[in-house]
Amino acid sequence: MKVNKAEIVISAVSEKQYPNDALPEIVLLGRSNVGKSSLINTLINRQHLARTSSKPGKTQTMNFYQINDIFRFVDMPGYGYAKVSRKEQQKWGQMIENYLLNRENLKGVFLLIDSRHDPTEDDELMYNWLKYYHLPTHVILTKFDKLSASKKKKSVRQLLEILNVEADTVIPFSSVSKEGSETCWQIIQSKIAD
Ligand code: GTP
Ligand code: MG
Repeated sequence: MKVNKAEIVISAVSEKQYPNDALPEIVLLGRSNVGKSSLINTLINRQHLARTSSKPGKTQTMNFYQINDIFRFVDMPGYGYAKVSRKEQQKWGQMIENYLLNRENLKGVFLLIDSRHDPTEDDELMYNWLKYYHLPTHVILTKFDKLSASKKKKSVRQLLEILNVEADTVIPFSSVSKEGSETCWQIIQSKIAD
C-alpha cells in the first residue's frame, strides 16, 4: 500500500476516547521495547510518526494512527515492564483486554516477540489468551537483523515449538532491513478488506 496520509487521531487513556466510526483496526501487542512503534514507522515509511525509544515503557497510551483514511494501527503500551507500578500494569491489562474483546473495529492482531530471546512467560500467556478467544493473530519476530543466519533458523524453530504457533502465521521482521514489511502489508490488506 502506498501511504499518502498517516496521522495520529488520538492518544487514548479510556474507552470513551476511541474513534467513533467503523474503520478497521490492526492492533500491535508485545513486551516493552520489542519494536511495536518502530514497526508502524517502518511500514508507513516515516521515521518519527510513532514515538520510539531505546528505553522500555515509551508508549504509555493507546495510540490510534489513521492511514490513508482507510484503516488504523493501534499502538499499545508494552507489557512486562517492571518499572511501571503493578497497579498501573493492571489498569493497562484491563484496558487492553477490554479493547481486544469488545472493539468491533478490530480486524487483526500483531503480537510482536523479540527474535533474540525465547518467548517470555508473558508472551506465552498473551499468545494463549489470544488463541483462546479466537482473535486473528499473527506473530511478528522482531529485530531479525540482529541475528546471524543460524540463529535466525533457531529463533523461528523455538517460537514454533514453545508457543505452538502455526508456521504460516509467523513473520520474521526488521525495522532496519525492512524484511517482513511486504508480508505484513499483505496481511493488513486482507484483514481490512474482509
Ligand atoms: P514501548 O513503547 O516501550 O512498549 O516499546 P516499543 O515496543 O514500541 O519499541 P520501540 O519501537 O520504541 O523500539 C525499542 C527500541 O528497539 C528502539 O531503540 C528501536 O530503535 C529498537 N528497534 C525496534 N525495532 C528494531 C529492529 O527491527 N531492529 C533493530 N536493530 N532495532 C530495533
Ligand atoms: Mg512504543
